[in-house]
Formats: sequence, C-alpha cells, structure tokens
Amino acid sequence: MSLCFPALIGILAVALAACGDTAKPTTPVKSPAQAAAVQLPAPEIEKFLDAHWARPIAPQGKPPARFTSIEAALDPDSCGSCHVAQFKDWKESLHSRAMGPGILGQLVNMSPDATNEHQDCIRCHAPLKEQADSLVAALAREQGPGSRPAKDSGLALHEQGLVCAACHVRGYQRYGPPRKDGSVPDSAAQLPHNGWVSTAAFEDSRFCASCHQFPKDGFALNGKLLENTYEEWKASRYAREGKACQSCHMPDRRHLWRGIHDPEMVKAGVAIDVKPARIQSGVVSATLTIKNTGTGHYFPTYVTPKVVAETYQESAGGQVLKDTLREYIIARQVSPDLSAEIADTRIAPDEQALLDYRVRLHRDAASLVYRVRVEPDAFYTGLYRSLLAGKQAGKGERLIAQALKDSTASAFTLYLHRQPLRAAAR
Ligand code: HEC
Ligand code: HEC
Ligand code: HEC
Ligand code: HEC
Ligand code: HEC
Repeated sequence: MSLCFPALIGILAVALAACGDTAKPTTPVKSPAQAAAVQLPAPEIEKFLDAHWARPIAPQGKPPARFTSIEAALDPDSCGSCHVAQFKDWKESLHSRAMGPGILGQLVNMSPDATNEHQDCIRCHAPLKEQADSLVAALAREQGPGSRPAKDSGLALHEQGLVCAACHVRGYQRYGPPRKDGSVPDSAAQLPHNGWVSTAAFEDSRFCASCHQFPKDGFALNGKLLENTYEEWKASRYAREGKACQSCHMPDRRHLWRGIHDPEMVKAGVAIDVKPARIQSGVVSATLTIKNTGTGHYFPTYVTPKVVAETYQESAGGQVLKDTLREYIIARQVSPDLSAEIADTRIAPDEQALLDYRVRLHRDAASLVYRVRVEPDAFYTGLYRSLLAGKQAGKGERLIAQALKDSTASAFTLYLHRQPLRAAAR
C-alpha cells in the first residue's frame, strides 16, 4: 500500500495497523499512540530515520475518509489552530523562512521540468512532495515561484519552508516523540488525526543530521565535509553527556531552533574575556579570549557565518585611531564558488582563540576597545554580490537583491568593552 513505508513494517506494527485501517474508514480507528510508546533501540532509530527522511518524500496519498479538512491539511496554519505554542515558535524560527528570497531567487531560473535539480535544494528547504508540486506549478506560471494568483492571499506550500508536516507527517500519519511526561493517551480517547506514532527518533541528534550533516562521500573542501555538524557534535563531550541537538536548540521541546542569527543564543555558547591592557615602552599590550564553552559543535559550524574580533585604540571623541586596529577572523572561509577553502579558524568545543594585541600607543588614545561582531550570512553576502555584479541572477534578480539586503541586515555586535588607557599607563 502506498501509504505505508515498507521499511517500517515489522518495526512499527502500530503504523502498519493505522495504514490498514484507512481502507475501512467507517471502523473506529485505534490511535497508534494508544499502543505503548514505541521505544526504539539505536539501530532501529537509524532504520526509522532512513525511511522517514528518504527523499524525495513519497506523496501523502489520500487522507483517511474520517479526517475533517483541518486534519487532512498539510499547511502549518492548520496545525497551528490546535498546536498553538509550536506554531508560534516555529513561525519565528529560520525553519519557517527556509524558502526565502536567497533560495527562491536561484530556483526561479530552473525549468519546471527539472525536478531532480529542484530536489537538490528543496530536499532540505521544503522537502514534502506536495511542496515539490507546488514549486513546479509556480515555476510553470510565467512570473516564477515568488508569485501566485492575485486572488490567493496566503503563501503557497513550498514558500512556507520547512513546514510541520515535513518533520511530522508521512502518509497522513503523524509521528512525534513520546509524551513529555511519559504517559500514553487513554485507549478510549478518539484523538484528532488518529493520534500519532511515538518514537524516540525525534529526541535523537540523528533526526537533525538528515539535513545538517553531509554524507561521508558528500561535498568536501580541503578534505573536510562542507556540513559536518553531527560529527562535530559526536566528537564533543555533549554527545558523551547525552545532550542532543534538541537539548540546546529545542529546550523544553520548544520549536525555536535559535542559532548564529540570535545574539542571546550566541552569547550562551561562548565566553569572552579580556585582561587589563598594559603599556610598556609606548606599546599597548592586551589579550582578548573567546572560548567555546557552550556550543555543541565548532563555533561556528558552517562556512556561512563570520565572527570578527577586533581591538583598537579610540580617541576621546570616539574615533578609531589610524593603524591601531587589529582583527582576528573566526570562520571557515571559502571562495564564493566553493572551489577553495581560504582559512579555517573555527573553535572546537571547549577550545579557545586568543587575539594578542601589541600596538604602539597612539598619542590621541583615550581608550582601548574590544569588539566582537557577528555576520551570520557573510558567505551569502559575497555570493549575492557576485551574482548581481556578474548579471548572473537572471529572473531572480529582484529576489537576490532582496536577499543581499537581508544578509547584511543580520549582522550584530556580540561584545563591546572599553578600557581607559591613561589609567593603564600609570
Ligand atoms: C484538530 C486539532 C489538531 C490539528 C489540526 C492537528 N493536531 Fe496534532 N494533535 C492534536 C491532539 C489533541 C494531539 C494529542 C496530544 C496528546 O494527547 O498528548 C495531537 C498530537 C500530535 C503530535 C504528537 C505530540 C507528542 O506528544 O508527541 C504531533 C507530532 C502532532 N500532533 C502534529 C501535528 C501536525 C504536524 C499537524 C498539522 C499537519 C497537526 N498535528 C494538526 C490536535 C491536532
Ligand atoms: C528537512 C531538513 C532539516 C531538518 C530535518 C532540520 N533542519 Fe535545521 N535547518 C534546515 C534548513 C534548510 C535551515 C536554514 C533555513 C534558512 O535560513 O533558510 C535550517 C536552520 C537551522 C538552524 C538555524 C541556523 C542559523 O543560521 O541560525 C538551526 C539552529 C537548526 N536548523 C537546527 C536544527 C535542529 C536542532 C534540528 C533537529 C531537531 C534540525 N535543525 C532539523 C533544515 C533542516
Ligand atoms: C543538506 C541540506 C541542504 C541542501 C541540500 C541545501 N541546503 Fe541550503 N541550507 C541548508 C542549511 C542547514 C542552511 C542554514 C545554514 C547556513 O546558512 O549555511 C542553508 C541555508 C541556505 C541559504 C541561506 C539562507 C536563506 O534561506 O536565504 C540559501 C540561499 C540556500 N541555503 C540555498 C540553497 C540552494 C540554492 C540549494 C540547492 C542548490 C540548497 N540550499 C541546498 C541546508 C541545505
Ligand atoms: C525540523 C523538524 C520539525 C518541524 C519543522 C516541526 N517539528 Fe514538531 N517536533 C520536532 C522534534 C524533533 C520534536 C521532539 C523534540 C524533543 O523531543 O526534544 C517535536 C515535537 C513536537 C510536538 C510534541 C511537543 C511536546 O511538548 O511534547 C508537537 C505537538 C509538535 N512537534 C508539533 C509541531 C507543529 C505543529 C509544527 C509546525 C508549527 C512542528 N511541530 C514543526 C521536529 C519538528
Ligand atoms: C551544547 C549546546 C548545543 C548543542 C548540543 C548543539 N548546538 Fe548548535 N548551536 C549552539 C549554539 C550556542 C549556537 C550559536 C553559536 C554558533 O553558531 O556556533 C549553535 C549554532 C548552530 C547552528 C547555526 C549555524 C552555525 O554556523 O553555527 C546550527 C545549524 C546548529 N547549531 C545545529 C546543531 C545541530 C544539528 C546539533 C546536533 C548535531 C547541534 N547544533 C547541537 C549550541 C548547541
């Protein structure tokens, strides 16, 4: 039966039972969650996830006949009418914006028939088959995927990015973690959408690895995979301590997924320290230390962000004094065409980076300033600039211009500290 996953038969007998029931819609359906929570041992989790994240994801098929239209709907707004808290968090998260102008501006140049090419991107950004179809329909309309018929006010399904159903629904069956308190629903209860199949796979880091880790034979530069977050985590103490990705990125199961774009999240992941500056023989010496104290992988994990630590002398009027600025870049820098790695200065878990400052004291110096800036989308800024400059954005020109604006607007100051220099001179 197309609604069932052959690989799951035998492991999740409850899923199979639910599939079987869809053929007899008038029979009351037993909620899969009413069977005890399915606790899977580690290899079984892998098997579950291989099937769950086999892409392209199979079409959902026909909803069970007893489903109301809201139970059969796949758009996040519908889920949100009951799951209010998850919807509110998700809406603020980057997962809900995974089909922004940066990716849409590249997809508009693809032919509607090039579905394999679409998959190369949407397998992570908008993975449902129903989203793939919605993208094809939009590409087939002349104006491209950013547009839709004027009367339709909502966003098309593919434009809504990594939707709830992409993680939670296969063949109209809901999948999720066991209840937080470990209880199971009352067997007499008729839950909406036939309840859910509960599996510990949702609490496992490998759930996230499906999109945040390249396979071993995936694209690499300088012998290192371009995305290696799961392996970085696995080698860290967090894996040994049983702190999965979810423990930091979905605290208390909240659907936040805060990362490098969120100043508070980044502050929680690093400790920044300065020693009092000293002046000897007219030379200012100072040290800025950045330690990865709470990031479960490299800080940062991807090639896309850039963290810049700066130390400089400032005049009483707040001017940066000439030739006194020293900077240290924390990033895995790669060329915009991904042909070469330029440098890799990321900080592994529990390691630290030092910025040693030794510069002549400027005669107008009033203070020494330490600043750490974060450019979460530095790589994309470079990419979009080169696409626009080379007139390579094609039909996506307007969208790429918007993406460039967004990618520079995400920069923020993580840390700023001033030390008076005259006091240090004494
Ligand atoms: C009509 C209301 C309603 C709608 C619409 C709805 N749900 Fe549910 N959902 C529920 C209820 C009620 C439960 C059972 C909660 C319980 O008993 O612990 C549930 C359970 C779940 C669970 C399991 C929760 C757990 O503890 O693991 C997941 C996952 C889930 N829903 C996802 C979705 C998704 C995704 C959508 C949209 C595609 C959706 N639901 C639409 C009402 C709804
Ligand atoms: C289906 C693929 C997919 C899965 C599964 C997935 N993600 Fe993501 N995630 C993405 C994509 C794509 C983005 C980028 C969204 C954007 O900005 O366009 C992203 C963004 C993020 C970000 C924001 C990063 C930033 O730049 O600030 C975090 C954090 C994150 N994911 C964590 C997780 C965690 C934790 C899990 C597992 C519970 C997970 N993701 C599962 C695809 C996925
Ligand atoms: C293996 C999963 C995966 C695939 C496949 C993938 N991406 Fe992403 N993409 C991510 C993740 C994770 C992020 C967020 C982290 C980052 O910024 O690097 C992201 C971020 C982005 C961003 C910046 C954020 C935004 O939404 O503007 C763009 C643009 C983008 N991807 C475009 C693409 C394009 C185009 C393709 C296809 C050629 C593609 N991606 C394929 C996982 C993926
Ligand atoms: C990137 C994948 C992903 C997306 C997108 C996603 N979820 Fe989840 N969801 C998870 C994971 C993983 C967990 C379990 C987290 C844990 O156990 O720490 C979860 C847990 C849940 C739960 C159980 C919560 C609890 O407190 O027990 C519900 C209900 C749920 N999700 C509904 C939704 C809804 C509704 C949406 C969309 C608004 C959504 N999810 C989007 C991955 C996702
Ligand atoms: C101990 C807490 C912790 C754990 C565990 C953890 N992270 Fe993070 N993560 C952070 C912090 C803090 C940041 C912000 C700093 C940064 O970007 O490195 C972050 C940032 C990110 C980002 C933003 C992109 C980037 O370049 O940094 C992504 C994506 C991400 N994490 C995914 C994951 C995934 C997937 C896992 C599991 C394999 C995971 N994280 C485990 C704390 C954690």
